[in-house]
Amino acid sequence: MAMTHSAKTVGEYVKERPSLSKVFERYGIDYCCGGKRPLLEVCQEKGVSLDELMLTLEQVTTSMLSREEPDWQSATVAQMTEHIYQNHHLYLYEVMPRLSQMANKVAKVHGGKDGRLAELAVTFDTLQAELNRHMHKEEQVLFPYCRQLAAADSMPEFHCGPISTPIHAMEMEHEQAGALLVQMRTLTDGYTPPEWACNTYRVLLDGLVEMESDIHQHIHEENNILFPKALELASELEKNRQG
Ligand SMILES: [Fe+2]
Ligand SMILES: [Fe+2]
Repeated sequence: MAMTHSAKTVGEYVKERPSLSKVFERYGIDYCCGGKRPLLEVCQEKGVSLDELMLTLEQVTTSMLSREEPDWQSATVAQMTEHIYQNHHLYLYEVMPRLSQMANKVAKVHGGKDGRLAELAVTFDTLQAELNRHMHKEEQVLFPYCRQLAAADSMPEFHCGPISTPIHAMEMEHEQAGALLVQMRTLTDGYTPPEWACNTYRVLLDGLVEMESDIHQHIHEENNILFPKALELASELEKNRQG
């Protein structure tokens, strides 16, 4: 039975059932930037048993059936941009300065015991700066254009060229953010505190794990839900124009 599902992409699974993202996180499977890849291919590459993974996915699906899950598939483009801004952008603007302060404090106090802590603080600050720039671009350019497309009867004028141009740029920036997250995970041995870690250090690691999972969900909602919806709207408007 597993084989019949294996051609489905990782992003499609999470699109249909958002709670499956937790299973993929557990197996270290990238469902956001790498969401367009078929599950079978990813399993083979990671050395994960497809049958075992399918069983876990089915168990989570069954246990979630009675619970309400957000239905992003039927959400409009305007609802998606608003949801992403309210839940993911505002969350990052709030937690990143706090985490940065903690990462720098931990590096200063415990850097002598583990030299990687200084690198962690620098990597975090790089990620923070990149994400701030990235989110401003989405809020000021791409999201308004997505909403304009949704409301338009004919293709609106857009100074950045076709919408696929800013979308590809944002997808590339997502990959860069994903790579920095991987780097931070490696620097902290998978966010495992050493025995001697103080409270701030532990709170920092917990905060980083939570932020990582939120960014994965955030990127998934953009790459696999919002962007394809916006591209579809653009291609429909284009067809109408030609027809
Ligand atoms: Fe975003
Ligand atoms: Fe983004």
